[in-house]
Amino acid sequence: MPPRVLTGIKPTGSPHVGNLLGAIRPALRLAEQGLDAMYFIADYHALTTVQDPKALRELTYEVAATWLAMGLDPDRVQFYRQSDIPEIFELAWVLACFTSKGWMNKAHAYKAIVAANEGGGEADADAGINVGIYTYPILMAADILAFDIDLVPVGKDQVQHVEIARDIAQRLNHICGSEVLRLPQAKLEDNSAIVPGLDGRKMSKSYDNTIPLFAAGKQLKKIINRIVTDSTPPEVPKDPETSTIFQIYRAVASPDDTRAFADRFRAGIGWGDAKNALFERLEAELGDTRSRYDALMADPSKIDALLAQGATRARKTARATLDRVRKAIGISR
Ligand code: TRP
Repeated sequence: MPPRVLTGIKPTGSPHVGNLLGAIRPALRLAEQGLDAMYFIADYHALTTVQDPKALRELTYEVAATWLAMGLDPDRVQFYRQSDIPEIFELAWVLACFTSKGWMNKAHAYKAIVAANEGGGEADADAGINVGIYTYPILMAADILAFDIDLVPVGKDQVQHVEIARDIAQRLNHICGSEVLRLPQAKLEDNSAIVPGLDGRKMSKSYDNTIPLFAAGKQLKKIINRIVTDSTPPEVPKDPETSTIFQIYRAVASPDDTRAFADRFRAGIGWGDAKNALFERLEAELGDTRSRYDALMADPSKIDALLAQGATRARKTARATLDRVRKAIGISR
């Protein structure tokens, strides 16, 4: 059997060009290579921070439509909403009982908020931290362990979470004296794929420097005009590698187009012309995806139907795991 891979997509922001390269394309490639892939919308993880009901609903559809428009084949990839699999949440409770509180205290994401509170002179180090944020790694462990996953493709910031899932599984297996849960492994994604945002830092919704995947026309032009450049005159030869414009272009363009664009930099190109070229390339490369996206968003019931189909299939696996766990821990016979 091919290795089974799983990843969760948290619907906390509108998809942008950085997601395309950093997460979506590599994940779709794994599925094309024949791995048994499960990709899901981690909507209950998003609830730890997105508590505006309208936004949560909208973002969930946007993320689902993006992956489908980008070519995710729901016949090949199990694609579902986390919240449609109640077994995950029952498993999360069981796992919580096998998780040392100290492990949660040490989780980077939680520690970062505590550090920010302390640094910002907050009297309460836990200010603004709900228990969902604190136990986030346990729910993520359940996402993974419910499906006998081999590999979890993640960025650097999520490696610790996968290790926690492994630790929890190991402890439960040890205490129950059998291999109840499969031990997952993090598959660290290549960082060279990181796309810079408008200000040159990593493109990220937390820096507010993103190019939304589905911005078009005038709106897209305006966004591209915000890309920060220096005052080098047009005719001066430029190193493409140091240009944000070039790096974003390369993220979406073919190798041939990218080479030709690099040559224009070396020959000397004005920033205005470079921005126009980027605008045209984005329009050309994302046009078809955008039409598929728009069609899906115009009729979200199609998205619901596809996700429900995925959930029906995924639940069978989660049910089998949960039954095994319940037996092993002495809850059922
Ligand atoms: N925590 C991940 C993120 O913020 C999302 C996620 C939730 C996830 N459950 C998962 C990723 C399980 C991999 C496996 O990006």
